[in-house]
Amino acid sequence: IRHLLSGADVDAGTANRILDTAAEMATVAGREVKKLPALRGRTVVNLFYEDSTRTRISFEAAAKRLSADVINFSAKGSSVTKGESLKDTALTLQAMGADAVVVRHPASGAPHRLAEWVDGSVVNAGDGTHEHPTQALLDAYTMRSRLGRLAGLSVAVVGDVLHSRVARSNVLLLSTLGAKVTLVGPPPLIPVDIVAALAPGTAVCYDLDAVLPQSDVVMMLRVQRERMNDSYFPSAREYARRYGLDGTRMRRLPEHAIVMHPGPMNRGMEITPEVADSPRSTIVEQVANGVSVRMAVLYLLLGGNNR
Ligand code: CP
Repeated sequence: IRHLLSGADVDAGTANRILDTAAEMATVAGREVKKLPALRGRTVVNLFYEDSTRTRISFEAAAKRLSADVINFSAKGSSVTKGESLKDTALTLQAMGADAVVVRHPASGAPHRLAEWVDGSVVNAGDGTHEHPTQALLDAYTMRSRLGRLAGLSVAVVGDVLHSRVARSNVLLLSTLGAKVTLVGPPPLIPVDIVAALAPGTAVCYDLDAVLPQSDVVMMLRVQRERMNDSYFPSAREYARRYGLDGTRMRRLPEHAIVMHPGPMNRGMEITPEVADSPRSTIVEQVANGVSVRMAVLYLLLGGNNR
């Protein structure tokens, strides 16, 4: 593949190749010399129009561990504030020799437009409420390393599906890899028609307590109140009562089940500190795995035998 824009861009073979390569990359993190020369002479631009902690830093760490040159661009403090367009910004960065552009943008579809304008590879690091494919890949990696497989797993994705690019990319990728996804949350936050079009086998349930005993994985989503309007704006207490994962609910999961969250979390709303900090939680592990998975993605886009 030349670009990674959507969970739909990777078939099962490509996804497994990325996950296997990430497992090899993870061994680098444990070594005394953490750097590989694979992308020496290549330039990776991190183009961020929206705030990020995990994704931006892990792409930077991933590119540096592969010996690439890294340019970090944040829209704040750039000529974007003077009205420069995404296209002009992209062409400026290309003129500086970008081999890959990692882009986060508040507009759904922005990475797809970018891919039409630049010669290098484009990686979607989160576009609006649309997709976040490397998050789905690191989530799949985490499930596989904790539970040993993806095919046949029952994965409950819980909460604000409507606004979640993480949920969309996970639905696409997990379906490709043979997991069974159930979306759980209040009806106004589950866009049944959109999800059915994305992955027809996806189930929907509005009762979290009914789903937990059958789940191998429960993936809690951040309630994105900044993207909500007045038609549905739950109080933290009401939301937590119906759809929050607390210690009592966590104990209804099978013993082997894991709890995931892409971060950042609203502690006390969709997840309690007791759950977030419990041994079942993979939240910190997901962050660490993100570096290996993003190393694999950059390596396969820029340094593998695709180009
Ligand atoms: N999970 C995730 O995308 O986090 P950031 O917004 O901090 O990058």
